[in-house]
Amino acid sequence: MGPAAGWIQETTGTEVAEAFKRNIKGKTILITGVSPISLGESTALAIARHGPAKLLLVSRTESKLQHVADKIAKINPNVKVDLIVVDLSSQTDIRTAARKVFDLTDRLDVLVNNAAVVTSARGETLEGIELQFGTNHIGHHLLTSLLTPLLIAAATASGERGTTRIVNVSSIGYRLSPIRFHDHNFEGKPIPSEEEPPKGIPAHMKPDVAAGRPYYGFTAYGQSKTANILHAVALKEKFLSKGIQAFAVHPGSIWTDLSRNLSAADRKIIEGTSTFWKNQDQGCATTLAAAFDPDLCDAEGPFLSDCHLHDVAEYAKDQVIAENLWQLSEKLTEGKASL
Ligand SMILES: NC(=O)c1ccc[n+]([C@@H]2O[C@H](COP(=O)([O-])OP(=O)(O)OC[C@H]3O[C@@H](n4cnc5c(N)ncnc54)[C@H](OP(=O)(O)O)[C@@H]3O)[C@@H](O)[C@H]2O)c1
Repeated sequence: MGPAAGWIQETTGTEVAEAFKRNIKGKTILITGVSPISLGESTALAIARHGPAKLLLVSRTESKLQHVADKIAKINPNVKVDLIVVDLSSQTDIRTAARKVFDLTDRLDVLVNNAAVVTSARGETLEGIELQFGTNHIGHHLLTSLLTPLLIAAATASGERGTTRIVNVSSIGYRLSPIRFHDHNFEGKPIPSEEEPPKGIPAHMKPDVAAGRPYYGFTAYGQSKTANILHAVALKEKFLSKGIQAFAVHPGSIWTDLSRNLSAADRKIIEGTSTFWKNQDQGCATTLAAAFDPDLCDAEGPFLSDCHLHDVAEYAKDQVIAENLWQLSEKLTEGKASL
């Protein structure tokens, strides 16, 4: 039985990283969404203590990236840290960032797709995709596809099946919506009942086209977080034979900068969603377990919460739905998964 057996919601990322320090040492790890007081920061700090070969920190705001890099330098001045500024809501930017990654490394052992945006008001990416789906999922779909040759290189060099990992930071908020294949952009198009928010979601917490409200921010966030899980399902199906394992995680409930774009009413809803609020260190524990626990090399997955595997709704793990989302994502990135 591995160390994860005793882990609970209070378990910290520091403890998880300490337990798997042999699996961190010498690895090249890329984390998206790194800024002060965020889970990207706590993930990077916990890893930095244990001698990774290289940390590639990828996010939107250079000054925030630098702030985290300065903290890492204090914790462990020997770690090589590269900073890459990218807006995940721009596919041009993502391709430029991926090219920079290829210039900086010839292998990637762990990719943590952690960045996300949550917003009450509807926005769009540069390509006109609804902002939360377009950034949280489509942006990471494209980045992951572009970086897959580096992950395959790491898996081939290690010769170990399943230690090369992709971790998508999802959320229990996936329960708010399946993928809306008939209206992923929230344009008020009719959708079949299986694409509606699940039963039990109150009327004021979903779109209502008849009432002139085709968009509801939490439904869009839920769709993007379901997509993070299905992306992991599809990645595992396509790449485990090449040695790459993939998971999605719920980090817990943590006060970070995530709620910055929410209306007062939506912030109030968030305040009522948890009885246990993790601190940042506790909030990165499950990501680190998914990235480094050797007992998970062959695990079915796709989802972890509080460092353990957890089942998810059929709409978030079905292979056919995962493949349909993959095809939609390829279409929305124009299948241009080349640099
Ligand atoms: N906090 C929670 O309670 C909670 C619960 C469930 C799931 N999660 C998930 O945990 C992950 C981390 O969230 P967090 O709580 O740490 O939120 P956060 O503090 O808001 O951090 C999000 C990070 O993503 C970056 N980001 C946002 N939009 C971006 C874009 N377009 N391009 C590049 N980077 C972008 C942000 O950069 P800037 O700061 O520079 O904008 C920031 O570094 C997310 O996937 C979230 O869905 C969090």
